[in-house]
Amino acid sequence: MKLLFHFRILKALRFIIFAIVLHIANSSDFDELFEADWAPDHIVASQTDQIALSLDSSTGCGFESKKKYLFGKASAQIKLVQGDSAGTVLAFYMASEGPNHDELDFEFLGNVSGEPYIVQSNLYINGTGNREQRHYLWFDPTVDFHTYSFFWNRRSILFLVDDIPIREFTNKERKRVPYPKTQAMGIHGSLWNADDWATQGGRVKTNWSNAPFVATFQSFEIDACGLSADEIDIDPTVKCGKSGQFWWDKPVVREVNKQRRKQLKWVRDNFLIYDYCGDVARFNSEGLPKECH
Ligand SMILES: *[C@@H]1O[C@H](CO)[C@@H](O)[C@H](O)[C@H]1NC(C)=O
Ligand SMILES: *[C@@H]1O[C@H](CO)[C@@H](O)[C@H](O)[C@H]1NC(C)=O
Ligand SMILES: *[C@@H]1O[C@H](CO)[C@@H](O)[C@H](O)[C@H]1NC(C)=O
Repeated sequence: MKLLFHFRILKALRFIIFAIVLHIANSSDFDELFEADWAPDHIVASQTDQIALSLDSSTGCGFESKKKYLFGKASAQIKLVQGDSAGTVLAFYMASEGPNHDELDFEFLGNVSGEPYIVQSNLYINGTGNREQRHYLWFDPTVDFHTYSFFWNRRSILFLVDDIPIREFTNKERKRVPYPKTQAMGIHGSLWNADDWATQGGRVKTNWSNAPFVATFQSFEIDACGLSADEIDIDPTVKCGKSGQFWWDKPVVREVNKQRRKQLKWVRDNFLIYDYCGDVARFNSEGLPKECH
């Protein structure tokens, strides 16, 4: 009887702690989590917690998280520029600072009305990028909000669209492939003009008579190990690097289980346009990067 009682209290306590942690981690208040770092007057928050980024011929704009993060999951719901978005790029990305920085990118390449967006993803590790993949989406990303996420632990990195992985980068340090695991990254969003390359290889330019171009974010969810500005000079692996302390490190978190493997294959078979790992001509002299083998 007594034992059962204790057990119940324990269970209740665990639930309360869980609920508190969840609440803190999932705060979606833009101003609490982010600040503008480029053209603040082009970023407008609505009462419904939607953040509109706009681009016109004078400037684009961008925001950045106040904290930096090492491992975890970060998501945002995004509705892309409607109608003619040719020449524009909306970026949702994570990045550390400095010449040897790490970075995980989603870049949404606009198009003329009725033609499909391309999602370009990329990883920089210790300052080196050149790991692009390009996909079409299985829906029109300008009609509704969809969720775009990064999942990141020591074993792998996933790029997810509506919780379906479109790309996986696994840790192959055993094969001496570098892996991002020591630098905390900020979370960023920006909208800018990239009509020298973005749309149909740069052939279609931004039509400024359709400006302003507007893309909208909402429902940010950051469930990751965060470091505030005053912690940033400390080695982030001291707070966030210890193995086994967070849910994303638990062995039960099989980021790529059987179902996810199927989903990755479905995306690859149906929506992949370009993969740097298949681009032999590009890496001609030095050969394909080690992680491609
Ligand atoms: C990162 O790159 C620098 C050279 O830019 C190199 O000296 C260093 O060893 C690299 N670090 C890792 C972890 O690969
Ligand atoms: C734009 O539309 C054209 C024609 O359908 C397509 O070839 C291209 O991949 C699309 N996306 C971009 C970003 O150019
Ligand atoms: C630019 O957009 C305007 C307004 O939609 C349109 O009338 C014009 O033909 C477009 N220009 C080009 C070069 O497509």
